Amino acid sequence: MSKIAIIYSFNTKKTGKIATQIQEGFNDPDIEMVNAEDITEEKFLSFDRIIMGVPTWFDGELPNYWDEFVPALEDMDLKDKKIALFGLGDQKGYPENFLDGVGIMAEILETRGASLLGFTSVKGYEFESSKAKRNEQFTGLAIDYENQGSMNKQRIAAWIEQLKKEFA
Ligand SMILES: Cc1cc2nc3c(=O)[nH]c(=O)nc-3n(C[C@H](O)[C@H](O)[C@H](O)COP(=O)(O)O)c2cc1C
Repeated sequence: MSKIAIIYSFNTKKTGKIATQIQEGFNDPDIEMVNAEDITEEKFLSFDRIIMGVPTWFDGELPNYWDEFVPALEDMDLKDKKIALFGLGDQKGYPENFLDGVGIMAEILETRGASLLGFTSVKGYEFESSKAKRNEQFTGLAIDYENQGSMNKQRIAAWIEQLKKEFA
């Protein structure tokens, strides 16, 4: 089977830590870590299974490095791509925009035809609104380092088991 990409900014500390934990949890030599800050369209399209790390910044927006790649994404045909998003956010500090980046990215990818996987329950989180919330699920994995860091390990482990099935 083809490689799985984990795409995130190599300049982030927290997102990078989670990306590494996901890589270790998969325990699969066919995972490639790719820097979101210098990814090309060709590189992105060379993977069929993609995990993307999307923290939320600026009161409900994508960080600049993802913003820069979005125009390229908006022109891509992602019909055969299986994509899972993990996001970092702060539900207490930004309860009205918790994890919005994941929702923004989910919409962009689905508009281009991608199949999104790895949705998780909103149970266990407290916030007012989120663009990542669809029915009672997030459109990806929600990690809140600031307020629920002790749950990271267990949330990541469960997500990996889910992805192993959904990526198959
Ligand atoms: C200036 C600033 C704005 C933020 N805005 C949001 C937000 O709107 N929604 C949210 O859920 N988290 C928000 N956060 C929290 C970050 O997403 C969180 O700290 C995350 O762990 C950052 O990950 P990173 O350091 O890997 O980029 C914000 C953080 C900062 C510093």
